[in-house]
Amino acid sequence: MKSVQELKIAPSLLSADFGAMAEAAKAVEQAGAEWLHFDVMDGQFVPNLTFGAPMVKAIRPQTSLFCDVHLMIQTPCNLIPDFVEAGAHNITVHVEACPHLHRVIQQIKSLGAGAGIALNPHTPLEAVMDVLPEADLLLIMAVNPGYGGQHFIPLMLPKIERAAQWLQTHAPHIWLEVDGGITPENAGQVVSAGARVLVAGSSIFGASSLKAGVDALKQAAFQPFNA
Ligand code: DX5
Ligand code: ZN
Repeated sequence: MKSVQELKIAPSLLSADFGAMAEAAKAVEQAGAEWLHFDVMDGQFVPNLTFGAPMVKAIRPQTSLFCDVHLMIQTPCNLIPDFVEAGAHNITVHVEACPHLHRVIQQIKSLGAGAGIALNPHTPLEAVMDVLPEADLLLIMAVNPGYGGQHFIPLMLPKIERAAQWLQTHAPHIWLEVDGGITPENAGQVVSAGARVLVAGSSIFGASSLKAGVDALKQAAFQPFNA
């Protein structure tokens, strides 16, 4: 499993000002984030509709952050080439939207991007274990996807722990990412459970400053959590 020292903070642009996205991307980079999380939503897989590959294409040249694209869309295989061409470093698809998940993972990797698998809160880790070693990232949703500003679902903590233990044994190269409701109040627990990438929207963009938001998560993440 990745060491805590490799921890990545991934601000979600879903919580940024859509009228100033390039500025937001630059600002979170200056604030000390390591990744940039693009929440792509199609209004079908999730009720909300956000943006597509053109947004990644527009932002990518403006940032040196790792561009982490989270596809909350039906039939992601149709659009994966567009996101790779747009410059995505990692593309995460939902197992719930992929009847042929292994083929989609192969498609992403054959095009040169990292491949992530996302699990909705109700989806068990066992649903993806058999193909997970071919992925580069596992995303555990700690909210029901579609919106920022929701509360972290504590039921996901045992799932994060189970995933971290499984990855430690079977696929230590994989990033364990947790997305949804991450705050300084729960970041320590989530990292102690094994998360190494924290996606956060409202707790960063709603902080007194972006740097305060990023710093608060990092500080909390490195506080050993005593259960
Ligand atoms: C929800 C998205 C999350 C969300 C995170 O569907 O995948 O990335 O934007 O926002 P917060 O941190 O506000 O829950
Ligand atoms: Zn996301």
